[in-house]
Amino acid sequence: MKMLPEKAMIGVLGGGQLGRMAIEAASALGYRCHVFAPDGDAPATDIAAVSTRADYTDTAALTAFANSVDSVICEFENVPVEAMDMLANHVPVCPGGKALRVAQHRLSEKDNARTLGISTPRYAGVKDGASLADALSRFGGGILKTCRMGYDGKGQMRLAADADPLAAIAHLGSDDLILEEIVDFTAEASFLVARDHQGQIAVWPASINQHRGGILHISEAPALADILTPALWDEGKAAVIAMAEDLELTGVLAAEMFITRDGNLLFNEIAPRPHNSFHWTIEGAETSQFSQLIRVAAGLPMGRVNATGRWRMTNILGEDMPLLDTAMAEPGVYIHRYGKAEARTGRKMAHLNQRID
Ligand SMILES: Nc1ncnc2c1ncn2[C@@H]1O[C@H](COP(=O)(O)OP(=O)(O)O)[C@@H](O)[C@H]1O
Ligand SMILES: [Mg+2]
Repeated sequence: MKMLPEKAMIGVLGGGQLGRMAIEAASALGYRCHVFAPDGDAPATDIAAVSTRADYTDTAALTAFANSVDSVICEFENVPVEAMDMLANHVPVCPGGKALRVAQHRLSEKDNARTLGISTPRYAGVKDGASLADALSRFGGGILKTCRMGYDGKGQMRLAADADPLAAIAHLGSDDLILEEIVDFTAEASFLVARDHQGQIAVWPASINQHRGGILHISEAPALADILTPALWDEGKAAVIAMAEDLELTGVLAAEMFITRDGNLLFNEIAPRPHNSFHWTIEGAETSQFSQLIRVAAGLPMGRVNATGRWRMTNILGEDMPLLDTAMAEPGVYIHRYGKAEARTGRKMAHLNQRID
């Protein structure tokens, strides 16, 4: 695609912190942004040149948005595929309809990974009590997840082999579910690839992630070789590239993987957008995930993605606000506050980046 000139308008689907940080990167490159997001707290709208507040199914609003932008990125992975496909008829889009469709459904992202020869935990689609009972007995328990709309550990529950299937299904309130075996992992790693409209690829160093209550707490990168061996790094890198190419992805794609106790890499999930575990790239990589996404959307050549040292990213949730006050006084801690209205428990409010080498 042709390079967008300065002051061109980049459309941003979604109004959360990922959009906000993408707008910061766009601003540094001289672009303006138009955020499209439904009603509600949308911190990206505070720093956007233009905002439209409408549902993703509002075709009149989407058409006006399409006519006002030169390129579109997506910061929210549950934007309806129809909206993305419609926009793609007008302007270049990231990540593209196929990537969005596969990533929106846990069963399809795992099936897709398997088709590409990427190892996954054992899993089974669950529609009713009988299919859940069968899978629970085969896996000796497991984690039951809604196939759609889950995030930050929401929409999932851990089940023992003798759990009551109907009660579990009623609890999650869906008949579109997946049961996964419980993985005995020593670490969680994530991989991030950027792919531009010409098919050029760049892969950042991997992150090692710790969660608290199903929510990402800390990421450290580049992953050390005693946790992510060179062989596993090669495997993860090849996997994320294969998925990006298969999904005809444009922009950035993250993959979450388990490193098992017996030394294997198992695919968990993908996100076709900037990922929380790569927020360290803002100060810690030559080109951040946000800057790279804007570069792809604007048709600029991609930047280098090597890390500039070892970095730790710490999430600040609503209940961690005192920690943020302390960090404010610490030189060498880079603070990224999202400008959210309300500091609720479990809500991502900010993150801290710091060098650890
Ligand atoms: N099959 C599994 N085995 C063991 N732990 C899991 C499994 N699936 C998820 N988890 C744990 O729960 C976290 C959140 O699950 P994930 O599938 O990534 O959903 P989300 O979309 O909420 O991030 C994971 O990062 C991991 O710590
Ligand atoms: Mg996850």
